[in-house]
Amino acid sequence: MLRLLLISCVVGFVLPALAAEPATAPQAAQKRPLVIGHRGASGYLPEHTIESYALAIEQGADYIEADLVATRDGYLVARHENNIADTTDVARRFPDRKTTKVINGKSVEGWFTEDFTLDELSTVRAVERVPFRSQTYNGRFVIPTIANILVLRATKARETGRTIGVYIEVKNPAYFRSINRPLEEPLVSILKAWALDRPGSPIFLESFDADSVKRFSALTTLPNILLLEAAGPFTTDAGLKAVASYAKGIGPAKTMIVPVNAAGQAGTPTDLVTRAHRAGLLVHPYTFRPEAQFLPASYGGSAAREYCQFAGLGVDGLFTDTPDLALKAFGESCPMTR
Ligand code: G3P
Ligand code: CA
Repeated sequence: MLRLLLISCVVGFVLPALAAEPATAPQAAQKRPLVIGHRGASGYLPEHTIESYALAIEQGADYIEADLVATRDGYLVARHENNIADTTDVARRFPDRKTTKVINGKSVEGWFTEDFTLDELSTVRAVERVPFRSQTYNGRFVIPTIANILVLRATKARETGRTIGVYIEVKNPAYFRSINRPLEEPLVSILKAWALDRPGSPIFLESFDADSVKRFSALTTLPNILLLEAAGPFTTDAGLKAVASYAKGIGPAKTMIVPVNAAGQAGTPTDLVTRAHRAGLLVHPYTFRPEAQFLPASYGGSAAREYCQFAGLGVDGLFTDTPDLALKAFGESCPMTR
């Protein structure tokens, strides 16, 4: 209750100024896939920071992607894991709060958001997790709450005149539910308070956990996406049909669409996009990254070639760490999106 009261206070403070902003889901400019700024523009700035999200918006992303976990006092904050050892300086600031937990059947050692209040986490700063990306901004940016992100979304939408979406993933939802910190209901409550829980709203909800995706479908009519790591029961024709009964789309690993062998050679595309579309599902693969450590060698160092291949295969959107490169490819390089 206290949590919802606090949320309401924040919302009540900012909503009047934002009332004029239209909220309509971005539609891809007819020919190109939606560009989803994965953890912001995380190829350039530490992931899941307001600065990273703002850069993604500046680069033209249709959506910014936020992964959410909970604090001890029930706030929803943006982190890819509830263990924040690799993406913040928490070890230096709270050396005595290191602990070990079993999460999803695995023993994990670190510092966990659910052990910290929002006030405590506000003293922590983000750091870059990928060693070969810039470390210049380490220690400068705070961990945002979902309310901070929604403020950014609305503010930038008003400033730019564009519709900007937020694509929201709940992380470890079963674990958080098991410790009495469910994620889905508070998230939908916040979206309702922001008048974003309505048809055409620029929001997607996503999870790797099918139960969580089903829960969203019971709580809201906002479009929801089932994330998938590999082919399996969900990707048979019958499985896709079942997914379509509770989800708007799938978010497959991109190798489920274009397989890549151990030598980095991209192989013959699968028929997943065609079959998912036949089942009525959107397809939003992840994650497009330009560095040689991530980009399959057979694209010859050209991220544009990868973007164009996936656009040609008909994906409806894609998650990218570098929204600028995706939009450049779609605008300049890919014959099917120009
Ligand atoms: O949510 C799409 C993509 O972000 C899934 O992978 O691990 O980066 O959250 P992950
Ligand atoms: Ca994610």
